[in-house]
Amino acid sequence: MIPFADLVTQHARMRSELEPVIAEVMFGCEFVLGRRVAGFEDAFAAYSGAAHGIGVNSGTSALHLALLAAGVGPGDEVITTAFTFVATVAAIGYTGARPVLVDIDPETLTLDVRQIEAAVTPRTRAIVPVHLYGHPADMDPILAVAGRNGLAVIEDAAQAHGAEYRGRRVGSLGDAGCFSFYPSKNLGAPGEAGMVVTNRPDWASRLRRLRDWGQAGPYRHVERGFNYRMAGIQGAVLGVKLRHLDAWTESRRAHAARYDAEVSGPDLKPIPVRPWARHVYHIYAVRARHRDLVAEAFHRRGVETRVHYPSPIHLVDAWTDLGYPAGSFPQAERAAREVLSLPVHPELTAEQVATVAATIREISAPAHSASSRVRVGARSPRRAAS
Ligand SMILES: Cc1ncc(COP(=O)(O)O)c(C=O)c1O
Repeated sequence: MIPFADLVTQHARMRSELEPVIAEVMFGCEFVLGRRVAGFEDAFAAYSGAAHGIGVNSGTSALHLALLAAGVGPGDEVITTAFTFVATVAAIGYTGARPVLVDIDPETLTLDVRQIEAAVTPRTRAIVPVHLYGHPADMDPILAVAGRNGLAVIEDAAQAHGAEYRGRRVGSLGDAGCFSFYPSKNLGAPGEAGMVVTNRPDWASRLRRLRDWGQAGPYRHVERGFNYRMAGIQGAVLGVKLRHLDAWTESRRAHAARYDAEVSGPDLKPIPVRPWARHVYHIYAVRARHRDLVAEAFHRRGVETRVHYPSPIHLVDAWTDLGYPAGSFPQAERAAREVLSLPVHPELTAEQVATVAATIREISAPAHSASSRVRVGARSPRRAAS
């Protein structure tokens, strides 16, 4: 099987770089924050084009704290996309605010900027665009709506390390950018970790306090904070891995270009990249009209696939109480039915990439398409009836 992710290979290749820094944390006992975390905060903030980096224990915590720094609280509304991982809306929920969903652009699957302003009410405090799959959201119009309405912009860049919007790195475009270093992310920690980056010094000092029990100094709790600190071992490993990130991203982009050249036909459609975007392909997805069947065809040829995500937020069980019935966000609902993610990680061998590309070509071919419909018809009542 060509695996969807392969951290075993990544870490085996890096063993000689990783072991010394892990040992340093272990035997130096700088387990929570510390010099390795501080070094990584500076390096990753600079990488993202931001002045400050605040290391935390997950991408979700990063979003939660950034929203608090924006002054979001109970009774407020925060606008975000209907098609994202649940963490985006969960973090809004943690503040006591209500997530207000907006449909996606049918091409890039990020916030449809034409629909944002209609969702603004007197209670709206912030917009959270998500750079989904590693493709930036269309930030200029989002920042313009925010500017006109006095709203904060918190970028959910959990999937978009190093992605660029019109030549500028994501995370540094709004008031704050939130990254996840969950192990399988483009830059992954050996455990949970995240970071807020910001160019606002006032936000940076508040965020540092909030992640560490609201302390302004030892046991001086000037506000109610959280235990959201980044662990030393995460900072140490992430600092080493950051040196490889650009090369890894280039591999992802090269694999994606190879796959894009093969996607065609009625059953498989590419997800376009805007000319202003540098996509970092945390996820390489295609649209598949008969997704289950196409996924099965990939599996038969030894290619592991995933679905990111099978349900838009408003139809996820835990979030139905937001009150949006099915049909509210047609593009998000369609994407949830059609998207299929293929392996694009940098550890893929040339042979594996060639196999994935050949499989895409084969599945795109009209002959396969016709035969697949027959097989779909055998199983699916809807097709059988047509
Ligand atoms: C879009 C998005 N937002 C937020 C998160 C939350 O990050 P974490 O898992 O580090 O809490 C993730 C990743 O899991 C994500 O994909």
